[in-house]
Amino acid sequence: MTPDWSTSGVDLHLETGAGAGRRARLEGALREAIRAGRLVAGTRLPSTRALATDLGLARGTVTATYDQLVAEGYLEARPGSGTLVAATGAAVAVPGREPASRPGPTLRLVPGSPDVTTFPVAAWSRASRAALAAAPVAAFGYGDPRGLLELRTALAEHLARTRGVLADPARIVVTSGYAQALALVAQALHAAGARRVAMEDPGLGFHREIVRRTGLDVVPLPVDRDGARTDLLGGAGLADVSAVVVTPAHQYPTGATLAPGRRRALLDWARANGALVVEDDYDGEFRYDRQPVGAVQGIGPDEVVYVGSVSKTIGPGVRLGWMVLPERWLDPVVAAKTYADHRTGTVDQLALAHLVASHGYDRHVRAVRARYRRRRDLLVDRLAAAVARGAVEVTGVSAGLHALVGLRGAEADEAAVIRRAAALGLEVTGLGEHRHVPADGEPGIVVGFGTPSEAEYPRALAALSRALSDTGPAGKPRTARPTERR
Ligand SMILES: Cc1ncc(COP(=O)(O)O)c(C=O)c1O
Repeated sequence: MTPDWSTSGVDLHLETGAGAGRRARLEGALREAIRAGRLVAGTRLPSTRALATDLGLARGTVTATYDQLVAEGYLEARPGSGTLVAATGAAVAVPGREPASRPGPTLRLVPGSPDVTTFPVAAWSRASRAALAAAPVAAFGYGDPRGLLELRTALAEHLARTRGVLADPARIVVTSGYAQALALVAQALHAAGARRVAMEDPGLGFHREIVRRTGLDVVPLPVDRDGARTDLLGGAGLADVSAVVVTPAHQYPTGATLAPGRRRALLDWARANGALVVEDDYDGEFRYDRQPVGAVQGIGPDEVVYVGSVSKTIGPGVRLGWMVLPERWLDPVVAAKTYADHRTGTVDQLALAHLVASHGYDRHVRAVRARYRRRRDLLVDRLAAAVARGAVEVTGVSAGLHALVGLRGAEADEAAVIRRAAALGLEVTGLGEHRHVPADGEPGIVVGFGTPSEAEYPRALAALSRALSDTGPAGKPRTARPTERR
């Protein structure tokens, strides 16, 4: 029987059949595999010798096939690298799959992602091996819906020490990131009769949508340079909200820190109204100018659900988060969790528990914090000229992985800066898309500095400052409007 499976380099199912016309069938099979997306751009094909051996063909047949497909644009011959599936040419995108190559910006300074090249592969592997070897067999069963006790215990110590959280392992629930924690709290609120929840404006639209999908109405809570306007809670439009979702350590996306008076006002309002505060501590570990600001939960554990995740510290792909709940919300949230996905997988929980308990997590956070600080400094440095000429104001840089570049002067045009950046190969995000009503408010660019790679980062910053200077009349002095700082 003729083999129709190549295992040389790539596992490749090619139905070439036997007998005459095998070259045409091989050509057809390769074209088909590329069109269908089973062979994606950049895949290195086996050498002609290896494929010929695997398929029982003459080497010349395979060489002629590759030559033909190179001529047609399906393949690319690279001296020294062999034959690769081409990025463009005859390949067609298959619905539902990522296109092989997408035109548009290649550099990204968008918020949301840390530098995933810093994922601690060696430390995670070591922690995983050690934790799996030591784990009791019960760890591989369904276990507690709140998550593994090992992880909840390690987190309670870590959060108390680093974030001032009053954490009892019994009141911690492990989740699939902040996104699930928010959904579960919103479901529990809705089940308890809540109808309206206040969320920061500007804030992340994705999170507003999570809350809306549980049946709750989202009400905007304005933000200024001192963070969320908690002084407005209880006032017009905000009188009957049952909960408020805030990012006190580093407001997303303006970067403001919630002022001490407002932290107290928030808790006073929650106590007086029996309301719940959801504290999203998504990047509280990354503070550059002083010690991280402690969690609001530390002074209001009966009013606040504290939520964190590893998305900014280790990587969003891990999908592990945690919440520390007030006693009265524990059972409703555990019920929501149980019916959402029964349990969070325990294998990664074991690894994270080991990493946190052994302080490998602290070491990793310290190392990446230093790296982000350097990137933050470079961003500030590269925008200094634009700041000096009054075109922009850079705020929110004392913490986190993003900054707000407020556009100033009569020429300030968010859409124009985004378009110009795209033309220079850079993707950036506007402040407008973070607002509850997009056209409402001062223009700005939310610059995430977690990406791109170290090698590409200076190029991305150069494109950003170019996009800014190209948009307004470069060099022309403009007047900043001092009252509009965030
Ligand atoms: C404001 C905010 N909160 C929370 C998160 C973390 O979300 P998750 O844990 O679901 O990845 C992010 C991540 O980008 C964020 O921007």
